[in-house]
Amino acid sequence: MSKHDDHFFNTFSVVIGILVGIAIVLLVIARSIGNPFEAARAAEDSGVEAQVAANTKPVGQVAVAGRDNSALAITAASGEAPTALALPKSGEETFQQVCSACHGAGVAGAPKVGDRGAWAARIGQGKPTLYEHALKGFQGKAGVMLAKGGRSDLPDDLIKETVDYMVKKSQ
Ligand code: HEC
Repeated sequence: MSKHDDHFFNTFSVVIGILVGIAIVLLVIARSIGNPFEAARAAEDSGVEAQVAANTKPVGQVAVAGRDNSALAITAASGEAPTALALPKSGEETFQQVCSACHGAGVAGAPKVGDRGAWAARIGQGKPTLYEHALKGFQGKAGVMLAKGGRSDLPDDLIKETVDYMVKKSQ
């Protein structure tokens, strides 16, 4: 081998060495720049995973007798308002919210509240009958009175209070 070749190999090795060094430095820099993004992406991915899990979770679950079914307890989904309708508090409020739909204007044969003529004979039957008809429903000559005006969730006492209110307004 000539001296010329030796010199070439020496220089060549040094250049390769330097290039490898630069490559390593670049790698380290790239990693240090990329790390925060990588972490953010990982966090985002786990959010996406949770989202997918929530969107694809089964619609129903089955309780198995004799097993621990506590995980099936029904809880209000976070951030959602309770779905149950707020109960009216008084007879008057119940009338406004529920009964006035028919008894306000006298729709579908319903005796209009305040119409003494329409109520006189009904009131004559006595309160117990009116209560019973309001609570259980009633098919009369004029039309159909739905049990509790269609709001079976309302307590009996509130319906009675509402009948009292309607009667008072109609005598
Ligand atoms: C969907 C319409 C409708 C709603 C809502 C409704 N009613 Fe009636 N109600 C009627 C009709 C129709 C009659 C008359 C039936 C007949 O005499 O033929 C009636 C009759 C009555 C009577 C008289 C029963 C009798 O023996 O003469 C009472 C008391 C009464 N309703 C109470 C209520 C109360 C209290 C509510 C609310 C909780 C209510 N109603 C809501 C349609 C309705």
